[in-house]
Amino acid sequence: MSTSQILHLSDLHVSAQGNFDRSVVLDPLITRIKEDLTKGFKPEIVIMSGDVAFSGKTEEYALAKGFFDKLLTALKLSPQDLFIVPGNHDVDCSEYAQGESLNFSDMKAINDLLENKKHRDRCFVGMDNYFQFIETHYTHLASKQGRLIPFVSRRNTRCNKSIGIVGLNSAWMCRKSSEKEKKHIAIGEYQIKNAHAELMEPGGLDLAINVFHHPLDWLWNVDERACRTYFKTLKAPELLLLSGHLHEPNAGYSSDTQGGRFYQFQTGGVYTGSEAIESYQSRFQYITIDWDKKKIRLDFRRFAGWERIWCVDAENGEDGRIEYDMAGADNKAPKTLKTPEPFPEIPENYRTWLSEHCAYMDIDKLRGKSEVIQVKMPEIFVPLFADDPGKKAGSRRNMGEKCDQ
Ligand SMILES: [Fe+2]
Repeated sequence: MSTSQILHLSDLHVSAQGNFDRSVVLDPLITRIKEDLTKGFKPEIVIMSGDVAFSGKTEEYALAKGFFDKLLTALKLSPQDLFIVPGNHDVDCSEYAQGESLNFSDMKAINDLLENKKHRDRCFVGMDNYFQFIETHYTHLASKQGRLIPFVSRRNTRCNKSIGIVGLNSAWMCRKSSEKEKKHIAIGEYQIKNAHAELMEPGGLDLAINVFHHPLDWLWNVDERACRTYFKTLKAPELLLLSGHLHEPNAGYSSDTQGGRFYQFQTGGVYTGSEAIESYQSRFQYITIDWDKKKIRLDFRRFAGWERIWCVDAENGEDGRIEYDMAGADNKAPKTLKTPEPFPEIPENYRTWLSEHCAYMDIDKLRGKSEVIQVKMPEIFVPLFADDPGKKAGSRRNMGEKCDQ
């Protein structure tokens, strides 16, 4: 049987405090990994898609190193089998003046900045601790272009397939609260073009893996479009994008729906706290590529709160497992997956009003097939969207708009 397997983790969020709580979650994770090995799982690489630290401090990375050592020992792998990219929490924001941010009006301005080493280095001051950690302990992850591109690597798998793994830095513009950065950050054409050129320089690959912290749709629209262009032209029959950041199990996978032939797999946060609420529970996944069957499989794992164990994550996939046709199989685009329909943006003033007056209501679950929400009186459910009897069936009115009926 010809398979390759990846252990995909993200969002470790190691802070200087909370050692005991982390041990409550992460010690059972090591136990789970060992148990999975006895059941036939055999990852040959580990990919950590960002947010190793909580605030980009040296002491946080020292603690993270201890976890990675335990993990690799359990997997019988070496440090050369671990691949890491930076996330927004790997930026030490105290290195920047309050309110300091990067704003661009066009891609050329980003490219000009990234091409200028002096200007680029100034932007990366807050990632110094991250790169020092990497350069000290994981020398195979040599950054390119002066710490702009986290790493470019090629290797042969156990079953002799050639895979290329490129780490991209989607965090270099991060300076403020995560939510405000959505659609305001960029990888930058200068970065992705150079990274792909280096990756493909020795020749074709069986599989190319692009790892970056933020999901593709978090990037500035212009940057997202540029990245898609470069992904599409990569000379590899199989292409995966691996990311993290959202900690959301329901966003565990998505196909490209805009003409590309790739899957984007987004994993949950490996440490979100022992008391994390349901949707934010700690999670990780195995990615298995079956070269003979031309299938890609995800196996989901979840930290089960008070049981203090990591279990099969039955909330994702079919009983914790989902399988896809390889995107490049027969040169067809990946079949459409069950991704939620895009939902209209909830007006900010309405969200604020709901949060203030309906404390028991989870407004993020106000969508079609979600579970029933219990609302305590005197709270009143106010539908966000309603059918207008005067319009054709299926049309919707946004309650944030003017309503004259
Ligand atoms: Fe993040």
